[in-house]
Amino acid sequence: MMLSRLPRRSYTYAETPIERLDRLTDLLDGPNIYIKRDDLLGLAGGGNKTRKLEFLIADALEKGADTIVTCGALQSNHCRLTLAAAVKEGLKCQLVLEEGPSTSYDADANGNNLLYNLLGVEHIKVVENGTNVIEEMNILGEELIASGRKPYLIPIGGSNVLGSVGYAACAQEILHQTFKSGLVIDHVVVASGSGGTQAGLIAGFHGNSASVKVSGINVSRSNEHQIPVIQDLVQKTAKFLNVPFTISEDSVNCYDDYVGGGYTIPTDGMIEAVQMLARTEGILLDAVYTGKVMAGLIDLVRQGKFAKDENVLFIHTGGSPSLYANHTLFNKDLFKI
Ligand SMILES: Cc1ncc(COP(=O)(O)O)c(C=O)c1O
Repeated sequence: MMLSRLPRRSYTYAETPIERLDRLTDLLDGPNIYIKRDDLLGLAGGGNKTRKLEFLIADALEKGADTIVTCGALQSNHCRLTLAAAVKEGLKCQLVLEEGPSTSYDADANGNNLLYNLLGVEHIKVVENGTNVIEEMNILGEELIASGRKPYLIPIGGSNVLGSVGYAACAQEILHQTFKSGLVIDHVVVASGSGGTQAGLIAGFHGNSASVKVSGINVSRSNEHQIPVIQDLVQKTAKFLNVPFTISEDSVNCYDDYVGGGYTIPTDGMIEAVQMLARTEGILLDAVYTGKVMAGLIDLVRQGKFAKDENVLFIHTGGSPSLYANHTLFNKDLFKI
């Protein structure tokens, strides 16, 4: 894997830390739990999309784009970070935002919504829940071309092959860091949404011949729908990176037990997990992604799925800016110290 051959912008000036979560490890009395602080990546508010955008925006610049168009849910971290990257590069940015099944767009909402405006979004197109957002992005792209602009379209979550390469690079970073510190990671636990993060990690570890098991905790879909998405993206990313990879039944491991009622719908496990990390480690998670992933990790530890001497690495993919739009969720105390 020769990632240095690919055009890339650099938005973070150091490796993100890997820290042992001492107090959480003691509390759960399970394996050694470590965290990779990708919430501390560069661009406004940090999070996993920054790594994907390093490759996606470099491609947009190579192609001479002047406007970035992307899409997401109302409180999309991906949209916030894509906009921030566009601002940094002197590009315009337009967003397609899909309303939720029971949430509609509120121009005055807090969290990422506030940041879209603060970061100077050029245009937001709001579409109803269930709309084909890719089609809507294509329409926006055609309109921009007709007005003489050069748009570059980034799919939902930045999860195409180039975006996934960002997480193949992260796998290399983890191996480099753990080589220096002499830590052997047995298991990685990460969010599985649009899939680029999990797929990139699997392709990246494989491309480095490192047998690290990567488990995705689904945030929206059942395994029946999620696993084929990840398998497809792993295969395409590996091919793009010239990594020989034959997908097998157990190449992709996902858990769909922590989605609850669906994407963005809170669960008690998520509330407990967000409060537990805040109150034991002083680390902020979010309600939609990392809270559900940590709820999954806590439950897997409680079920005894990991040996006590194993080292488990939780990837903190960011998202805490959306907490400020979801504050009422945490009125009930599900974890007391
Ligand atoms: C904070 C956060 N974590 C995890 C994810 C999921 O990552 P992926 O879409 O690559 O599966 C997202 C996606 O938007 C996110 O915003």
